[in-house]
Amino acid sequence: MSDIIQLFQERGQGHVFTFFDDLNEDEQAGLIAQAEQIDLDEIEALVNDLIQTKGEGNDAIADELEPADFVPLPENGDPALWQEAVEKGESALRTGRVAAFTVAGGQGTRLGYDGPKGKFGVTPVLKASLFQVFAEKILASTRLYGPAIPWYVMTSIINHEATVEYFEANDYFGLSPEKVLFFSQGLMPAVDAEGKILLADKANIALSPDGHGGALRALVRSGSIREMEANGIDVISYFQVDNPLVRCIDPAFVGFHIMTNSELSSKMVPKAYAEEKVGVFCQKDGEALVVEYSDLPDKLATEVDDNGALRFRAGSIAIHIFNRAFVHRLGSGKDAAAKLPFHLAHKKVPYLATNGELQTPSEPNAYKFEMFVFDALPFAANPTIIETAREDDFSPVKNAEGIDSAQTCRDDQLRQFARWTAAAGITLNTDETGLPEISFEVSPLFADSADRFVERWNGLAEKPELTNGLVLI
Ligand code: UTP
Repeated sequence: MSDIIQLFQERGQGHVFTFFDDLNEDEQAGLIAQAEQIDLDEIEALVNDLIQTKGEGNDAIADELEPADFVPLPENGDPALWQEAVEKGESALRTGRVAAFTVAGGQGTRLGYDGPKGKFGVTPVLKASLFQVFAEKILASTRLYGPAIPWYVMTSIINHEATVEYFEANDYFGLSPEKVLFFSQGLMPAVDAEGKILLADKANIALSPDGHGGALRALVRSGSIREMEANGIDVISYFQVDNPLVRCIDPAFVGFHIMTNSELSSKMVPKAYAEEKVGVFCQKDGEALVVEYSDLPDKLATEVDDNGALRFRAGSIAIHIFNRAFVHRLGSGKDAAAKLPFHLAHKKVPYLATNGELQTPSEPNAYKFEMFVFDALPFAANPTIIETAREDDFSPVKNAEGIDSAQTCRDDQLRQFARWTAAAGITLNTDETGLPEISFEVSPLFADSADRFVERWNGLAEKPELTNGLVLI
């Protein structure tokens, strides 16, 4: 008997191999390989800590929380400091210290799109995909600053091949193929309430991606961190696959990160209203942390300061910059005191019962374990949080309809394009929210900021008429 089967039996997980003798050789090897990836000590500890010892509650933290400090936008703060940050950031870009990093390993259940979410078409006219928008933004920055900016893309087993094929089929959207680097994130098994690992079918364990926080260990395990070190990269610009408004490479943000010697920097937007479902940057015992909206006690979420603004208003929009050595410290697991915790998600997971029947539960029956990237914050030295304008950095596509959907994201892109044309002196007809009457599109290769738009527009020998369907490339 294989050692791994014996080990699973000894640890009360032998049922995973119930149907082993029914499988062909390849399937047997596949199941063994999946089992070998699972750290049974880790699973046992998680089952014990998270499932069997539940319910400590979060009320205790309420009294200890303070709002986190942040650098306000130049118009609300210190323009000279922002100028200095831009210069520092640009200099880091010119010397090739910066990599872009997208986490794209999620399942995208809420959007319900069939395929890697990055393939989803989002722009108003061309319906260019999320991946294409990011690629063109990165290409635009590379053209501006010189050295090609490497782009690391984290996938997962559910979408890795389809993602790589998509880039190949589209010639990497103009980027050098050797500068686009894919790696798959880790997986965790789903377990039942007793901590038994579930089978998806006779030959497969019910595995799912280990959360965006899994990015840190995947960056290390994949060799990406070593490669960055060899190439002189120490600044990792992190963003999520669902937000086409993000400035993938933002010199001011890079500059603040470097100037403050920060191990982990983050962008915040003031929360739109107290109940908005975003995590909030806080401080506790001198450490920065993100408190999830569901964990922030109501009395804090609604508290206002002397100016009538929400006191806990620094909303997290999942845009960060990591210092490379910091990722190595957390992701390698060598520092026992600096480990991302796992969170529990109670979900409906179809599974194969030991009698060989496939069960499709109508109620949550299983627990999944996920790490969150923002849980790295308390471990970071000199964490820096800067304010950004929501309309210039954040409009995620999460849902098929309604809030944070393709429609809201399209409208936010159009509003941004209309602001850029206004900056160049062309006033479009818009509604009261700034949404123009016409649908048009500005490719990041034409411009990816208001300043750049004005420069490019003024430089056009023949200016096109801004009509429905126009695309500026
Ligand atoms: P979400 O929390 O929106 O999850 O991920 P999701 O899986 O994409 O979508 P739902 O909840 O099933 O609808 C935020 C970002 O984190 C990435 C996603 O790809 C997205 O960029 N992510 C999430 C990972 O890379 N890996 C994960 O395990 C989870």
